[in-house]
Amino acid sequence: MSRAPLAIATIAGDGTGPEVTAEAVKVLEAVAQLEGFAFTIERLDWGGDRYLRTGEIIPEGGLDLLRSKDAVFLGAIGHPDVPPGVLEKGLLLELRFKLDQYINLRPVKLLPGVETPLAGRGPDDIDFVVVRENTEDLYCGVGGYLKKDTPDEVAVQQAVYTRKGCERCIRWAFEYTRRRNSPKKTLTLVAKTNVLTFGHDLWWRTFQEVAKDYPDVKTDYNHVDACCMWMVKNPDAYDVIVTTNMFGDIITDLGGILQGGMGVAAGGNLNPDAGGVSMFEPMGGSAPKYTGMNKINPIAAINAMAMLLEHSGQPAAAARIDRAVASVTGTKMKSQAAGRMGYGTSEVGDLVVAALNG
Ligand code: IPM
Ligand code: MN
Repeated sequence: MSRAPLAIATIAGDGTGPEVTAEAVKVLEAVAQLEGFAFTIERLDWGGDRYLRTGEIIPEGGLDLLRSKDAVFLGAIGHPDVPPGVLEKGLLLELRFKLDQYINLRPVKLLPGVETPLAGRGPDDIDFVVVRENTEDLYCGVGGYLKKDTPDEVAVQQAVYTRKGCERCIRWAFEYTRRRNSPKKTLTLVAKTNVLTFGHDLWWRTFQEVAKDYPDVKTDYNHVDACCMWMVKNPDAYDVIVTTNMFGDIITDLGGILQGGMGVAAGGNLNPDAGGVSMFEPMGGSAPKYTGMNKINPIAAINAMAMLLEHSGQPAAAARIDRAVASVTGTKMKSQAAGRMGYGTSEVGDLVVAALNG
């Protein structure tokens, strides 16, 4: 029985986004041949350059176009000539919110051959996943100024938490922990219940309630500050972490460096509901200073493509890419840092393609 081709939209974006997207698509083309599935790509030129040219970030009808796809791949956003916040809010956060991608899934996995700043730690010690809520909290954009630009200025930035928002995220995290089925099989809630006694109390109560439906999953709780300490001291103790949007943002940069840095870290913005469209991205930014130099590491983007396939009904293709990437980091690349890989951006993509047969 033949399936409809997998319909992907790519937003290569700014800076080095197009270079890393090209390598991820190169790997997609090769793995699709090997695994025998068809796909289509619609390439969208959204990002800083287009915004500076047209004043438009998401063009008219753009969201509906994405809603008609199976998945979205985002290279990177961030342009030196666009003020901070404009593209982040207007493109990345807008897509997360409007497509209701309420899970931000960020694996923290140290691959073979990849250097971690943690002394004496290897791939067996660093393998956990952060489930970050992706639509609420301080990211909701609620707030304002009083007496702006006067000595009496007041700025308010509200964190919003809803029962629906935290419950759907927590429930998904329990399901995920059950599916992942690691020997630890533990879901850790990371929050700050000792200070955020309203919003994080809602998270805490919801976590306790939902846990009753998952008696096979062990539960734990860390305050976010302690979590930062434990991630460095005992990363091997974690299996799956579920946390709020803002804390998830912060601890996944820490997680990113534990797994070797932005050259390898990838994530998925998931709308797991029926008909939902998810978006996958390398976690790093657009690294403008490396643009067009064939120096940036495409592994994070290739990992993001593997996640896209995993969540789009092609788990065998995803596993094949994972194996290929592990063999390239383990046996070929000298470093995961831009310009120090021992290869150029496109050569790393070629190495992964060559390893797909393994
Ligand atoms: C991330 C980024 C974004 C976030 C920024 C660019 C808005 O840091 O994906 O982690 O804060 O979520
Ligand atoms: Mn971040």
